[in-house]
Amino acid sequence: MTRYRLVFLGFGNVGQALAQLLLRKRAELLSLYDLDFSVTGIATGRHGSAIDPDGLDLQAALEIVQSGRSLESISKQPSVSGVEFIQACPGDVCFENTPVNYQSGEPAISHLKAALQAGMQAITANKGPVVHAYRELTDLAAQMNRRFYFESTVMDGAPIFSLFRGALPGAELRSFRGVLNSTTNLILTRMETGAQFADAVAYAQQIGIAETDPSGDVDGWDAAIKVAALVTVLMGIPLLPGQVDRTGIGALTLADIQAAKQANQRWKLVCSAKRQDNQVVAQVKPELIPASSPLYAVEGTSSIIEFKTDVLGPLSIVEANPGPDTTAYGLFADFLNAVAARS
Ligand SMILES: NC(=O)c1ccc[n+]([C@@H]2O[C@H](COP(=O)([O-])OP(=O)(O)OC[C@H]3O[C@@H](n4cnc5c(N)ncnc54)[C@H](OP(=O)(O)O)[C@@H]3O)[C@@H](O)[C@H]2O)c1
Repeated sequence: MTRYRLVFLGFGNVGQALAQLLLRKRAELLSLYDLDFSVTGIATGRHGSAIDPDGLDLQAALEIVQSGRSLESISKQPSVSGVEFIQACPGDVCFENTPVNYQSGEPAISHLKAALQAGMQAITANKGPVVHAYRELTDLAAQMNRRFYFESTVMDGAPIFSLFRGALPGAELRSFRGVLNSTTNLILTRMETGAQFADAVAYAQQIGIAETDPSGDVDGWDAAIKVAALVTVLMGIPLLPGQVDRTGIGALTLADIQAAKQANQRWKLVCSAKRQDNQVVAQVKPELIPASSPLYAVEGTSSIIEFKTDVLGPLSIVEANPGPDTTAYGLFADFLNAVAARS
């Protein structure tokens, strides 16, 4: 039996959902994969950090953070943060789930570098490091005989990056098109039933999908960083979110949406990219979608992507009702794939 020491950097919605999934799957991990785990470190922004080389009580850590208290009470070592925290934690796998920084990808890039340098697998749901440091982190991982995996960054737990890495060897991605931002899709779906834009945004905030400042979603930044991540990794063309031709949904009116409905059409915030010679044309913009398109049927927080490659006909993946639990599965799958790839 192999025991992996796990380190959590960020213990919010996603980090906690991953902890719960690991606890739920513990017996299966043991029986099917002959592996077990201990969590040697958890760091947060405002809820302190805890390190115990012998393994923290993960259930107790969940209860502490959920009740708003600090993790310091269960730590066996003095409080440290960031790179210092990683260096102080004995670990085999680092899960980096801190908030995304669209502009620079920091401090997540430094966290992941420190984890790889310390010999850990580096796994994240954070899109920043993928668009700002994909090559650097992948090269460092190869040098250290470890993996930098990030399945959950686009379409949560649905297999996108691992699909091309594993199931589609030698396939060249020529273009993709999809609905990749849950918040805007939910807002547009609510407006189809007559809700005003502000009320639809408020609803998305109330159910915990949209942030207090919803501009990252509404203005298309979240969609653009996902397009940039897909182009960078799957097309091999480095692309930053600012290089994506981006229009958000802010200019769409209730009248536009109702008129589309009358014509049996729907407005969707469409993410797309197409390879042209050695360049790429990448866009995020609202489009009128006819009922005959697979994008038409994707409602609420669900998402879809359609790939065109040089080897298959159009290939689509639809993910219904994603959330922190499905994001957690993407991280869990990355963990198993990374440790399997190591042996
Ligand atoms: N939510 C989803 O379903 C989803 C889906 C795909 C990708 N993601 C990505 O996953 C990441 C985490 O999302 P989330 O929803 O879990 O966010 P969240 O609920 O806001 O949690 C963020 C966590 O990071 C901690 N943190 C903030 N700054 C830190 C720092 N400098 N060092 C260590 N910890 C720090 C926060 O601590 P405090 O709370 O104590 O400040 C909190 O524990 C983000 O990059 C997000 O874009 C999320």
